[in-house]
Amino acid sequence: MSSRPKDDVRSSEITPEAHYLDRRRFLAAAGGFGAALLAVRGATADTLPAPGKPYGLQPDDKPTPWDDVTGYNNFYEFGTDKADPKANAQAFRTRPWTVKVDGLVAKPADYALEDFLKPSAVEDRIYRHRCVEAWSMVVPWRGIPLADVLKRAQPSPKAKYVEFTTLLDPKQMPGQRSRTIDWPYTEGLRLDEAMHPLAFLATGVYGRTLPNQNGAPLRLVVPWKYGFKGCKSIVRIRLTETQPKTAWNQIASNEYGFYANVNPGVDHPRWSQASERRIGEFLKRKTLMFNGYADQVASLYQGMDLAKNY
Ligand code: MTE
Repeated sequence: MSSRPKDDVRSSEITPEAHYLDRRRFLAAAGGFGAALLAVRGATADTLPAPGKPYGLQPDDKPTPWDDVTGYNNFYEFGTDKADPKANAQAFRTRPWTVKVDGLVAKPADYALEDFLKPSAVEDRIYRHRCVEAWSMVVPWRGIPLADVLKRAQPSPKAKYVEFTTLLDPKQMPGQRSRTIDWPYTEGLRLDEAMHPLAFLATGVYGRTLPNQNGAPLRLVVPWKYGFKGCKSIVRIRLTETQPKTAWNQIASNEYGFYANVNPGVDHPRWSQASERRIGEFLKRKTLMFNGYADQVASLYQGMDLAKNY
């Protein structure tokens, strides 16, 4: 089955002419074997138009092609290999879907997904995405600011943290039939992090409905943190007074901290965090503090020892 959506446009229609000519010139100059290789790579590397306002992007950041964004995933509910989620999540049912918002709020509620989303203006935002495994992408997300739904629930003055929980359904999620993780997958943020205008709840990528493997119908995106914070297929958002348990921290607390801020100066025991491999690129890139969002978020962590609070 083709991995591209049915209404995909042909690459020749979406490649701006100047870029197209540049590439032809480059191919001509490269010559021989290199040119053949580039031609093959070029045929698969074109992306769909990526709608959205760029946030924290560097001049050489380009949206990662659709096939990589939707084919190279971590979603252990559907298998541990990067190709498993796409292969195993296609039949996953994301409607009807209910999101519970509860805990220390004045207005707890069980929302049908449509009602949960309706009051908010949908936005397209292009963010950098950095996994603790030292690979990265640039993803054009569609969704709503997390602060929107938190404000609606009216957090009580006691609320200090927000916990996110993924659906528990071993019938649909084959990975949950073995104890790789203490299911359901949970993640957490401090309330001020969750209220930050960059924290986002995604419902789509590339202007389309979120594919199941990316965490449909609703997943968290916190662009200055490692990817594992991005809890997928969320059914519950709970405000708490104490720091919630998080799935990876429970498995290996020395490897995965609660904060999980992208930090090139603090290595993971198995992966250096100083550099990263952008999916689709050959040479490594230097990893940026807070994944390039330091100007916006560094003040959240003033006075904290980020080597201890990793
Ligand atoms: N959420 C759930 N429920 N289960 C998971 O296994 N993996 C996390 C995160 N959210 C995961 C999850 C990890 S390790 C990463 S890197 C990101 O999802 C990957 O998101 P992506 O597939 O959209 O790139």
